[in-house]
Amino acid sequence: MNITKDIRYIGVNDNEIDLFEGQYRVPHGISYNSYVIIDERVCVFDTVDRRFGGEWLSSLEAELSGRAPDYLVVTHMEPDHSANIAVFLEKYPEATVVATAKAFKMMGAFFGEEYADRRIVVSDGTTLSLGSHELTFVTAPMVHWPEVAVCYDKTDRVLFSADAFGKFGAIGTEDNWVDEARRYYIGIVGKYGAQVLSLLKKAAALDVARICPLHGPVLSGDLSLYLNLYTKWASYTPEEDGVTIAYTSIYGNTAAAAKLLLDELGARGVKAELFDLARCDKAEAIASAFKYSKLVLASSTYNAGVFPPMREFIAGLVERNFSSRTVGFIENGSWAPTAAKVMRASLEMAKSIKFIDKTVTVNSALNASSEAGIRALAAELKEV
Ligand code: FEO
Repeated sequence: MNITKDIRYIGVNDNEIDLFEGQYRVPHGISYNSYVIIDERVCVFDTVDRRFGGEWLSSLEAELSGRAPDYLVVTHMEPDHSANIAVFLEKYPEATVVATAKAFKMMGAFFGEEYADRRIVVSDGTTLSLGSHELTFVTAPMVHWPEVAVCYDKTDRVLFSADAFGKFGAIGTEDNWVDEARRYYIGIVGKYGAQVLSLLKKAAALDVARICPLHGPVLSGDLSLYLNLYTKWASYTPEEDGVTIAYTSIYGNTAAAAKLLLDELGARGVKAELFDLARCDKAEAIASAFKYSKLVLASSTYNAGVFPPMREFIAGLVERNFSSRTVGFIENGSWAPTAAKVMRASLEMAKSIKFIDKTVTVNSALNASSEAGIRALAAELKEV
């Protein structure tokens, strides 16, 4: 597949994987992208997951017309992209590896070899000429590993963006780019908003026509859609006004309260999404909480705390720097309801959270009083 006249796609689709990175559901698979620039010197960008080394090397060979690659650029050392470095270097003994000093250290840890005699160490602003293509490296520490460097090809105005601008879903999947890119970004990179903003600032100085990420499709055309979303996600700014309702329920009574809130919000024209944390895709629930401006947590009281899926969900929000949102609570308890207090305390580390003071307490099952509390909560969520 040609990206430009000289840049070819040589990545692979993985439709076999059950959980990406051991935890993310990927019902439409995932791609491990790799690219090659055919110029006076041939430059390959990243390898692919261990299980696809043979397929990747065949695709590369098909583009080489008998030539051998001169360079292997390693933008990121996470094994879904780096697993075949040693295999590649064995097959092409004349090739040189191009990466940051931190990446070479990681190669030592992963492969027992830092390739001291066949490497070019790059840092911010390092250039490399392939003939007609001139590459510039831009370091992107903690997006989302420390050794990352993206690479800009000035000739074709292409940014090889490492994991940035990636998404779940194999290439060719007819899913929604925004939803699957959000779920990917918030899940995997979300904690590192400050570092992503710093990369976006550096990238703004480049004239970019295409973005070639390590997962998902090559982005071209009007890039402002993607850049605007990344700016929002990285700055923890809600994409839109709306409410994520995340609940856990043991016998269905807390679920009934959460569903009543969904209905009451709908009746008031407030957009809302509902997640049963024991059964839903937690990455989707977390991504939804970052998408909308408001969040309601509804949990049964359990062991004087909250039901375990809720505890895990809140931890998932806090570790990704969840901030700048309005949060309300519904708790349930049959003798000593404490869930709201525990949920609120768990969010104390999150910055710029406006808590809705009036908690709805359900005593075992909904009654006229708690139903009125939920209607009042819905009315307040519409106004804040
Ligand atoms: Fe797709 Fe961070 O590796």
